[in-house]
Amino acid sequence: MQLIESPSSDIKKNQVVDILELINLTWPDDDKAKPLEEKVTGFYDDHSEKICYCLYKDKELVGYAESIPLTIKIEKNWLKALGLGGLNVHPDWRVKRYGKAILEAVLKKIDSGEYPFCIFQTGIPNFYEKLGCKVIKNKFINSNNQVDPFKNPFWDEYVMVYPASAQWPTGTADLRREGF
Ligand SMILES: CC(C)(COP(=O)(O)OP(=O)(O)OC[C@H]1O[C@@H](n2cnc3c(N)ncnc32)[C@H](O)[C@@H]1OP(=O)(O)O)[C@@H](O)C(=O)NCCC(=O)NCCS
Repeated sequence: MQLIESPSSDIKKNQVVDILELINLTWPDDDKAKPLEEKVTGFYDDHSEKICYCLYKDKELVGYAESIPLTIKIEKNWLKALGLGGLNVHPDWRVKRYGKAILEAVLKKIDSGEYPFCIFQTGIPNFYEKLGCKVIKNKFINSNNQVDPFKNPFWDEYVMVYPASAQWPTGTADLRREGF
């Protein structure tokens, strides 16, 4: 097993195709009309400063996640945080601790002090609670949404942070970007 961490700009186009195929197994892409080339370009454009985590078994991509440096505004406070998105293990390779290994690689940046918090949305809080994360209850908005700045940029049922011991502020949280 090899876990490779790299900025999305360093990911080769053929690797992007593998990532998109892996993601597609869990979250099917219904846009069948869009050419692959455009989807690849979209990968680089979407949160372009993201860091990608690719878990390989031999040459096969079996797991993936991405992290995004954020500055969130909660009421009058500006908070630095690391966003986590797209954590995904190939269906044939699940429940073998690979998801845990990828998550731990991301959370290492919090434990080392590089970022004070990790934040993400999820439908499966139990998986993350086992690794020291907790659900938070803030209302989320995105002031950079030109159409509806008060629309929740997240779509999953739960938003969580790491560490569970965090003194996370209450109040409206402006993510200042689309969800991930
Ligand atoms: C969620 C996912 C990443 C977990 O990866 P995985 O490699 O299968 O899980 P792991 O083997 O690392 O599991 C670690 C622990 O979490 C538990 N777990 C695994 N999947 C879980 C789930 N969906 N819900 C709750 N707990 C889960 C395991 O049983 C294990 O528990 P243990 O430590 O008590 O034995 C993987 O199932 C997946 O890709 N799911 C589809 C995409 C998805 O839902 N991603 C999360 C988006 S927020």
